[in-house]
Amino acid sequence: MIGVFDSGMGGLTAVKEILYIMPRADIRYFGDTGRVPYGTRSREIIIRYALQDARFLASENVDIILVACGTVSSTAMDDLQAELDVPVIGVVEPTAEAAVKATKNGKVGIIGTAATVSSGSYAKSIAEIDPKIETYAAPCSLFVPLVEGGFTQDDCRITELAAEHYLAPLREKGIDTLILGCTHYPIIANAISKALPGVTLINSGAAAARRLVEMLPAANEEHGDARYYVSDAPESFARAASLFLGRSIDTQVEKIDIGKY
Ligand code: DGL
Repeated sequence: MIGVFDSGMGGLTAVKEILYIMPRADIRYFGDTGRVPYGTRSREIIIRYALQDARFLASENVDIILVACGTVSSTAMDDLQAELDVPVIGVVEPTAEAAVKATKNGKVGIIGTAATVSSGSYAKSIAEIDPKIETYAAPCSLFVPLVEGGFTQDDCRITELAAEHYLAPLREKGIDTLILGCTHYPIIANAISKALPGVTLINSGAAAARRLVEMLPAANEEHGDARYYVSDAPESFARAASLFLGRSIDTQVEKIDIGKY
């Protein structure tokens, strides 16, 4: 059984990919909808929240935990791996590897939350694989509130303006590949591509999900039992989930008290 968590709904973009490759995997997803966003918070708080999220999934007896959140993967992996008995994988390394493979001109852009970009996590990981690659990072603080707020339709002017504002400097650097370093961003990939025509987008949730599938192939011999837990507003999570998952959630989304973990 695979445990997946994110600060909110973004991690569902990783679940979509897991279920695409392994439709019979059992999944336990936790979205910390009562405390999203994480990306504007201090390191201390992000680590505290991430440990609670992972302890909850461990209490459900998952075999592995996927941190489907760029912010937590950039901030709390050492703490998570030190505390938990189950293997924990994040999005940064698999995504950096995918970007290195994809770039032709050696210029890679990185976008993420303020916490992710200030950690330098993706740039470090790319430099470890190939130090000749040039990286250019930009925090896009408005993207998560836009996605969580439902500004996701194609041609949404507000989202397109925000994308142009954040991405024009990366366009000028001549990048040919862009890491979507936050799992919320694939939902607004159209607006991002409009600002960066011809640039290859790397979906961090999907890259990490592919890595996880390689690590746990036996998960596809389970029952396809996916359950979803949140810390607030289960109804609105259930309503919006199909946008991220590409299918609707057919079980009850359960609200849990994450403060207990
Ligand atoms: N989806 C998250 C990420 O990948 C978190 C966004 C947030 O909570 O700020 O960074």
